[in-house]
This record gives sequence, structure tokens and C-alpha cells, in this order.
Amino acid sequence: MRTLNSFPRVSLGIFPTPIQKLENISKKLHTNVFIKRDDLTGLGLGGNKIRKLEFLLADAKKRGAQVVFTTGGAQSNHAMLTAAAAGKLGMKPILILKKRGVTERVGNQLLEHLMGTEVILMDTDDYADIYEEMDRIGLSLGVGYYKIPCGGSNALGSLGYVDCAREISEQGTRFDHLVCAEGSGGTMAGLALGAKLFLPGTKVHGMMVDNDPFDQITPALMREAAALLEAEVGIDPEDYHLMDLCGPGYAIPSREGNDAIALMAREEGLFLDPVYTGKAFAGLLKMAEEGAFRETDNVLFLHSGGAGGIFAVLRNID
Ligand SMILES: Cc1ncc(COP(=O)(O)O)c(C=O)c1O
Repeated sequence: MRTLNSFPRVSLGIFPTPIQKLENISKKLHTNVFIKRDDLTGLGLGGNKIRKLEFLLADAKKRGAQVVFTTGGAQSNHAMLTAAAAGKLGMKPILILKKRGVTERVGNQLLEHLMGTEVILMDTDDYADIYEEMDRIGLSLGVGYYKIPCGGSNALGSLGYVDCAREISEQGTRFDHLVCAEGSGGTMAGLALGAKLFLPGTKVHGMMVDNDPFDQITPALMREAAALLEAEVGIDPEDYHLMDLCGPGYAIPSREGNDAIALMAREEGLFLDPVYTGKAFAGLLKMAEEGAFRETDNVLFLHSGGAGGIFAVLRNID
């Protein structure tokens, strides 16, 4: 197997991120709940994308790219962080975002405005149109360009979360369960593969916040990332556990997600977001309610960031 250190990587974040026990929530749920603070990764407003971008933007640099394209919804945290990171590394980011969701200059759109990022809102539901437009613009610019897929979720990006599993294995506590949000798949696939390699006995749960076929996307990405690492592991259905928390739709707040955000805020003084982490934490609460955790279990929740969404998407909460 290749080591993670053998891949080109730029340093963007502050690692390891802390793991803290959620004392009040643990008492309420009668189990031991911990939080992995990937909202504190150290660039922009923090979040999971920094780990992926360390690998993706190193690849872009290695290939001599002067322009970096990426995509997502209008309030994509990934797109905003790609702009922050690419700019810091001296490459020009161009974001071609779906003209869907909250398009006003709030949340991540506001942050992109502050950074002077070139943002194109495209009226399409199909990412294929957007990737085509990236090529059209890239070729017309006549400079080297690099395309990062939606969410940074390809095999190379997923290595960021294989590495996160390695990091967790060195932080001293053994976890029975690891829970994360799944939006484009790379975080979950990386953690689930990383758990197979570095966290034996830890079950990884992906809380789906979109309606894509994650039962196919997750193992496919895990296999591609394993191939990149030349790791000889088979991927079986028991290596990843999926739960549907999408509710009324992607990037539309759900009742249970909002309740989970309020619980975390009141009990622990931490803020989750309405698109990813609030819904994912609602999934953890549902599992606790269904008796999935024993009193002696250690359960780790990944706080993957998303603060921009609090100010753009979570409006009129009661
Ligand atoms: C805050 C936050 N959490 C979780 C996710 C989901 O991660 P992934 O896209 O790797 O599934 C994203 C991005 O989509 C995100 O912005």
C-alpha cells in the first residue's frame, strides 16, 4: 500500500483537529458522544473541504494550473473554500455554481464577494452542462486549468478523509461509531475506507442529506480511493452504513435538523448548519432513540463545518 505521505499535498489547515466530549448531550443520550472539530480546520470558516483540497490543489499545482474551477449549489461551502484556498496558493478560482437555492449576496455568496471571486450562476440542474462550460472558458483563457468536481468528491479528494481516520486513530480514544454528513460522498467514502485501514471495530455512518444514489456512490468512491492507495482491501456492504436525513430536500432545512441544531447550541454552545451537520446530528439522535448505542459506547460525530449556511439558509427558525 502507498502511504498517504507519498501523495503531493499542500498545507492549508491546522491538524490534528480536536476531539471533545459532549458532556451534556452524553448524559441526555445515555452514551458517550464526542465531536471531531473539523469546523476548526483553519482556513475560511473551517470545514471538511480543507482536508480534500490539500490533495486536490497540490495536484492542480503539480499540473501547472493557473485557474481552478469548481462547482456546487449557490451556497456551496466547498466552492467558497476552494476559492479561499486557490487564491491563497496563487491560482485564480472560477466558480460555476448551479443557480439553485439562496443566490442573494448572503452566506457563502457574501464571502465570495469579499474575496473578489469570479462566480457564474448557471441555470441548469445538470452538472454535465457546468463541466462543459468549464472547458469552454478554460480553453478560451489559454492557460492551464484544473477542474475540481462538485464537493471535491473524487478518489484523490477522499484521501483527505482516509487521513482523517488515521488522525483519529492517533488521538487516544477508541470509537464504536463514527457519524458524518454525506452530501457528495467523498467525506463518508474516505472515512469508511480509512476506518477499514486504521480504525478496526469502528462502524461508519453516512447521514445522507441529498437524494443521490449513495448506496452506489459510496462503495464506488471507496474502491477508487483504495485503488489509488494500492490498498488490497475488499469493500463490503457492512463497511458503510447509510441513513436518509434529507427531509424536504437538499439545502432545505428540516424540522429534525433544526431541532438538532438547537439542542447542540443550547447544551454545548456549538453551532451546526442547516444543510449538512444539523441533519447529520439529527441522524445520530435518531440512532440513539432507536437504541443503536450502548451506555459504554463511544460515538464520534464529525462536525464538518458549514457555518456560511447558518446565515444564508437557516432563516425564520422558530
Ligand atoms: C459543511 C459540510 N459538511 C458535510 C459535507 C458533505 O461532505 P461530502 O460532500 O464529502 O459528502 C459538505 C459538502 O458537501 C459540507 O459543506
